[in-house]
Amino acid sequence: MSDYAIEADGLRRSYRSRTGWLRPQTTVVDAVRGVTFAVGRGELFGLLGPNGAGKTTTIKMLNTLLIPTAGTARVLGHDVVRETREVRKRIGYVFGGDRGLYERLSALDNLRYFAELYGVPAREQKARIGELLELVGLTGREGERVEGYSRGMRQRLHIARGLLHRPEVLFLDEPSIGVDPVAARDLRKTVADLAAGGTTVLLTTHYMAEADELCDRIAVIAGGELRALGTPTELKRHADGRRVVEVEAYGVAPGTVELLQALPGVRGVQIEESGAAQLLTVQSESDVDVQSDVLAALNGVRLGRVSARQPTLEDAYVAIVSGDGGPARESLVAA
Ligand SMILES: Nc1ncnc2c1ncn2[C@@H]1O[C@H](COP(=O)(O)OP(=O)(O)OP(=O)(O)O)[C@@H](O)[C@H]1O
Ligand SMILES: [Mg+2]
Repeated sequence: MSDYAIEADGLRRSYRSRTGWLRPQTTVVDAVRGVTFAVGRGELFGLLGPNGAGKTTTIKMLNTLLIPTAGTARVLGHDVVRETREVRKRIGYVFGGDRGLYERLSALDNLRYFAELYGVPAREQKARIGELLELVGLTGREGERVEGYSRGMRQRLHIARGLLHRPEVLFLDEPSIGVDPVAARDLRKTVADLAAGGTTVLLTTHYMAEADELCDRIAVIAGGELRALGTPTELKRHADGRRVVEVEAYGVAPGTVELLQALPGVRGVQIEESGAAQLLTVQSESDVDVQSDVLAALNGVRLGRVSARQPTLEDAYVAIVSGDGGPARESLVAA
């Protein structure tokens, strides 16, 4: 039997979509362009990457919802294309967002319905559902209709749903999206407990602190390709020898990121809205002090706090994906 819970070997997937009406063209998007990695049994593995990097597409190939254009993948030793039934029995899939639950039914009825659907034996259903409600912290609220549930409660109900048939491998695609900080902390504990109990978890998230706290190992993908793979500590070394300057600014003009990116010694620039202000994070080589250049480039913009700090996993992530981390290259072919 394979030592790995998940093995992806040269996975590729392209999408074709027709655009245009007068002169229709077929656009081919290479969403995943040859990704290889393996996840150990019981490992908590993170898949990080910018929007459009190919994370969901990768997960959908692993959980048999999409057929790879090329390459192979195995889950618990079973080929995801040739042995879909074997794979499906052993996996759970939870995606972030509000879809996939019956609004007009109570949480309990939702779980009963899915237990039936997943073939949980009738005599085990009651105990299993009780156990899961306890695990996700919804005991006592199971009689309420899902339409009255908050986002965090829905998310936890989704996880309970994904675990009904005791999957050995669980795919969580942005489980904490839209969940408040306290509920997100509960959710992280639930995920950590699952992994501690032996479940293999493959998780995507855009929250670097969450990935840092939870994951045994992390793969970073951008533009459909694997850019880095390692423990959070190993990945942080990508930001070793970098300096990070943070500038709080009000009313940054369009094009500023490109302007800062072009400064000598600058390796990565990030901009984030924070209330009325924008937070600019500029990474540079350790031997270049870019702070004065950055401030000069922002001449005329009202500035708040300016500070320098040590790199975090987020900085390492930016270092890994910056430069060419945009969406997968698109190619045009005649329709
Ligand atoms: N059904 C589809 N048809 C055409 N293109 C698609 C389809 N699904 C995804 N894509 C494209 O494939 C690429 C990868 O998308 P994917 O959803 O895998 O990214 P992601 O890493 O999950 O991003 P996000 O962080 O935004 O969820 C993107 O360029 C996307 O536009
Ligand atoms: Mg996605």
